[in-house]
Amino acid sequence: MKNAYISGTGMYVPPKSVTNDDLRTVYGIDTTNDWIVQRTGIEARRFAEAGVGSSEMGSYAAKQALEDAKITAKDLDMILFATLSPDMCFPGSGPLLQQRLGLTEGDDPRFVPTMDIRNQCSGFVYGVATAASMVRAGAAKHVLVVGAETHSAALDLSTRGRTVATIFGDGAGAVVVSATDEDRGIRKWYLGADGRYADMLKQPIWDIKQRPYIKVNEKGEGVIPPEMLWPQMDGKAVFKNAVERMCGCVMEACFDLDVTPEQIDLFCFHQANMRINQFVADQLGIPQEKLVHNIHKYGNTTAATIPLLLAEAQRDGKLKRGMKVALVAFGAGFTWGSMIIDW
Ligand code: UT7
Repeated sequence: MKNAYISGTGMYVPPKSVTNDDLRTVYGIDTTNDWIVQRTGIEARRFAEAGVGSSEMGSYAAKQALEDAKITAKDLDMILFATLSPDMCFPGSGPLLQQRLGLTEGDDPRFVPTMDIRNQCSGFVYGVATAASMVRAGAAKHVLVVGAETHSAALDLSTRGRTVATIFGDGAGAVVVSATDEDRGIRKWYLGADGRYADMLKQPIWDIKQRPYIKVNEKGEGVIPPEMLWPQMDGKAVFKNAVERMCGCVMEACFDLDVTPEQIDLFCFHQANMRINQFVADQLGIPQEKLVHNIHKYGNTTAATIPLLLAEAQRDGKLKRGMKVALVAFGAGFTWGSMIIDW
């Protein structure tokens, strides 16, 4: 059986940086830089311009990852797209990305399978686990996994929505998962979910149990009340569960591999809140120098946080061949996942 390893990483963040003060002065939200920094560690986030969506940002990150892996898009056997902000309800962003990457063009079109992964902040870890399974099974040699989010389009950027709107940002990260005969790569993953908490963090938009699923006014236009239109979160419940599950996740993956957290060189935690990550690190006795962060400058980019961390850490020289790396995620659903990689 082949091993599956990450052969390339890539990233894209939109150029427009929105600071905490901008949220107050430009968007008119009743908030302060101190509140946001103290509660979350976020100083700024990126917002994409209108007209830019998740498959476009994903394509920029994907092109970098392909270049880093030294392959072309036509070498891919599969595309996995993790997002909670797909370009539209259906079809998914996977086929849109396939087309953007040019797989369907030319004399040798490659109609490779694509799949969207709707697992919010854990989506990227679920995606890499799926890609590694395909590679190990011999069903694929190179699988592209993208995590991309366009949150800025779907946030209640007003005082009413401030608890959620101040923490999310846009961006995309990508990796190529490839087959190798070398003794390295994705060793172990641990995934989980608890649907009892589905209401704790959600953006319903519609209710498919109703007829029709979105209320329609006399002009035939859909009318969506704010609590359906915008994300809703019980922040304290999410925080508490995130700390517990992320700690458990690391221990499960370590236990299965018979390694201890001390033997791991680099931890890439999902970037939801700097305080969550400090709690997890403190509980597990992980020193600060083994953690990488990007929440201070990008906010919570959901499925994109971990591939963004990987791409940046690799470019900064913090992530090197031979290191033992742990990915840890937690998000809406609730869903969670961890993964240990010999880089
Ligand atoms: O990717 C996974 C998704 N999300 C998470 O992991 C988030 C987990 N939760 C959290 O990070 C925290 O719950 C938050 C940072 C979102 C909120 O922190 P909190 O300490 O739980 O604050 P809170 O919601 O209990 O609000 C405390 C106060 C309230 O005012 P009162 O009622 O005490 O007067 C809020 O209205 O802070 C107020 N508040 C704000 N004030 C200024 C809420 N949001 C803001 C804001 N700026 N942006």
